[in-house]
Amino acid sequence: MGMKVLVVGGGGREHAIVWKIAQSPKVDKIYCAPGNAGIAELAECVNIGAMEFDKLVAFAKDNAVDLTVVGMDDPLVGGIVDAFEAEGLRVFGPRKNAAILEGSKAFSKDLMKKYNIPTADYEVFNSPDSALEYLRTKAKFPIVLKASGLALGKGVLICEDLAQAEAGVQELMVDKKFGSAGDQLVIEEFMTGREVSVLSFVDGNIVKTMASAQDHKRAKDGDQGLNTGGMGNFSPTPFYTKEVDDFCQKYIFQPTVDAMKAEGRPFQGVIFFGLMLTEDGPKVLEYNARFGDPEAQVVLPRMKNDIVDVFEACIDGTLDQIDLQFMDDACVTVVLASDGYPVSYKKGYPIRGLENFKNHPGYYCFHAGTKFNEKGEIVTNGGRVLDVTALGKDLKEARANAYKAVEWVDFDNKYYRHDIGHAIDEFKG
Ligand code: AMP
Ligand code: GLY
Repeated sequence: MGMKVLVVGGGGREHAIVWKIAQSPKVDKIYCAPGNAGIAELAECVNIGAMEFDKLVAFAKDNAVDLTVVGMDDPLVGGIVDAFEAEGLRVFGPRKNAAILEGSKAFSKDLMKKYNIPTADYEVFNSPDSALEYLRTKAKFPIVLKASGLALGKGVLICEDLAQAEAGVQELMVDKKFGSAGDQLVIEEFMTGREVSVLSFVDGNIVKTMASAQDHKRAKDGDQGLNTGGMGNFSPTPFYTKEVDDFCQKYIFQPTVDAMKAEGRPFQGVIFFGLMLTEDGPKVLEYNARFGDPEAQVVLPRMKNDIVDVFEACIDGTLDQIDLQFMDDACVTVVLASDGYPVSYKKGYPIRGLENFKNHPGYYCFHAGTKFNEKGEIVTNGGRVLDVTALGKDLKEARANAYKAVEWVDFDNKYYRHDIGHAIDEFKG
């Protein structure tokens, strides 16, 4: 009998994870909670929210689920892995005491300082008054304000001057725009450089990195507009050179895993290293305790291994026995969003042309925010709607393929960036 696997989440990242699991010959049934209309082609979607731990645990037990994979940050930081383990269920992802690496920026900054892991200089503040005092007397501008807790990737403010910084303290710590995420504030040195992402598998003791990727966080062309969850991505990034990799493996990746172990918080799951390549070398911008979205959509199509083997090795502490391999082909994803994202947008529009992705190997349409309406049509159901993804022999070909496929699907209010992967043209290798 093959395995039954449950995936927790319902965005483009979880679609890519489900798609990759579906290729494993070991698996014969996939459930996804809550899933979406695209995931429903590969998995049975279960109408349970990602934060309903009791219901998810009961579902896994009732259906003899062999392995649960958690895609999203909120349940991980909230302790979903502990809830599953308490019932003797196998689950991939960090426990609550390790997911804090993402859940508290104050924690992660203090960890990096204690273990000499390169990152921007910073101070942590527990009250608006102490933060304001610091800003008025000691700060150099521009400066970066970060809500310590989870804030949908939006709790980071880059402030050009004191007035902006004072307004930022008001927004995050006093008005509590992101709730308790703003109870603590990290004030950080502003860094310049190119941003790259590296996802990695971690088994508590060792780390094995996946292919590098590069995100496009701003909503509009030319990296203008508001920060979003990510409008497109490409993998690999040419800026992540062998030299950069050597440095990061030695001074950032394994030291982070060692630090978590030394703190009595062994990390098992995916660590996403958000890095800035500064003039003084690579530095950590942030850690995430999960696959990126849409990083997973460009990294997983390039991965050669059976992902179930890798998940199990992370749980069992046997990652040293896995030879993690990626194709040379490059991958690009362009997010098709609802016009108005990330602020306000309409949803419920029928999506046309999804069938064009059938019989086109190397092209994928991962669903980020879709659902079936009462007529059974697939309709838009979020800010980010579809992740149009393509492979190519190199980055330029993958990008051309992805933009070709963007035309295959359509819906009212379709919005996307036209310059995903523009950095490829800036690379002078
Ligand atoms: P984070 O959620 O910490 O990755 O921050 C979101 C975005 O803010 C990053 O992707 C960077 O573009 C920017 N950012 C964060 N920290 C810094 C910093 N210290 N210096 C410059 N930009 C930053
Ligand atoms: N794309 C950035 C993230 O997943 O946090």
